[in-house]
Amino acid sequence: MRLLDHQIKAQLDQLKRDSLYRQLKVIGSEHGPRISYQGRSLLMLSSNNYLGLAAHPALKRAAIAATGRYGTGSGASRLIAGNLEILGDLEQKLATFKGTEAALVFGSGYLANLGTLTALAGPGDAILSDELNHASLIDGSRLSRAQVMVYRHRDADHLAAMLAEARGARRRIIVTDSVFSMDGDLAPLIEIVELARRHSAAVMIDEAHGVGVMGPGGAGLAAALNLEREVDVHMGTLSKALGSYGAYVAGSRTLIDFLINRARSFVFTTGLPPASAAAAAAAIDLIGAEPERIKRLWDNGCYLRQGLLAAGFMLGPSATPILPVMIGEAQPAMDLAEALLRRGIFVTAIRPPTVPAGTARLRVTPTADHSRADLDEALAAFIASGRELGLIA
Ligand SMILES: Cc1ncc(COP(=O)(O)O)c(C=O)c1O
Repeated sequence: MRLLDHQIKAQLDQLKRDSLYRQLKVIGSEHGPRISYQGRSLLMLSSNNYLGLAAHPALKRAAIAATGRYGTGSGASRLIAGNLEILGDLEQKLATFKGTEAALVFGSGYLANLGTLTALAGPGDAILSDELNHASLIDGSRLSRAQVMVYRHRDADHLAAMLAEARGARRRIIVTDSVFSMDGDLAPLIEIVELARRHSAAVMIDEAHGVGVMGPGGAGLAAALNLEREVDVHMGTLSKALGSYGAYVAGSRTLIDFLINRARSFVFTTGLPPASAAAAAAAIDLIGAEPERIKRLWDNGCYLRQGLLAAGFMLGPSATPILPVMIGEAQPAMDLAEALLRRGIFVTAIRPPTVPAGTARLRVTPTADHSRADLDEALAAFIASGRELGLIA
């Protein structure tokens, strides 16, 4: 065996011993309430396809039409030769959707967060970051070489103390998920913008799980709280409720011009494929035309939450349709996922390092397209599996 393989195999073996080894599961169909897995039709309760748009005919049609007109790839980075008209059209639409002066599309949410934080902050600056922020915000903060100050989850008092400590920094940027991806709870945005004002700090929020889910017309948490103008940097993804791929940053024209010049994950990467841009634009139109999708998502979230709680499962304090069924250790979380799979339910166990040690969970996410019968089927499987494993009485 090669020396490198020998070394990394030892690391893989340790992951296996710790029940933290990960394997890819192959899905053989499009994303819907049901998917095909190993030749079986399973109920999908683990996707971020909140509004059921990832395989919607209108998005497919838009993607196919864009491919017909612009081809499959954008050909180059945006600043060299890849700035297809359709990307600018999407950015206009996103700016209108978010109520900002401008928007910029990135290849993914991970790239958007990395590029934005490394552009905006550097040595001498301070980034104040919620301890449960998404990995892409953590990585972007670290890569920026600013001082990273991590405040306790949703703890505005702790944030205030850290802002006072960061008084001497050249620039202070508070960064937070708006809807926390693995917990479904919300950033204390009212307190955050108030603290930002008091301490002359900027605010960046990641609305990956807020867009299409929260706020008027699905514009996100900042819009829900009427705080759009108080937030300097609105980041969001095109890949979750919007059913496509890619991400955006929305804000002032100056911010967007700055990112076009300085965000390395924008400058040094190929533009978004036309099909992805067209599908995202179609999703924004569809959400505007069919706002009842958002209501169905929330109704399904409430129904499933009540059923899981009534069955005796412990749920994290989510305020959204993201339902974290808390288990604790990694192995029992995997056992529950496996038992559910046998009963026709696809839910992936979430383990460290995605969540802190001792907080392994099943992150259950219904979509707008699940029927009551689907949710009842899921609840019956949860109850049978939970009893089988001794997790509930
Ligand atoms: C809060 C949050 N931010 C950023 C991302 C990254 O987005 P993308 O999948 O487009 O890279 C995700 C999820 O993937 C997320 O949950």
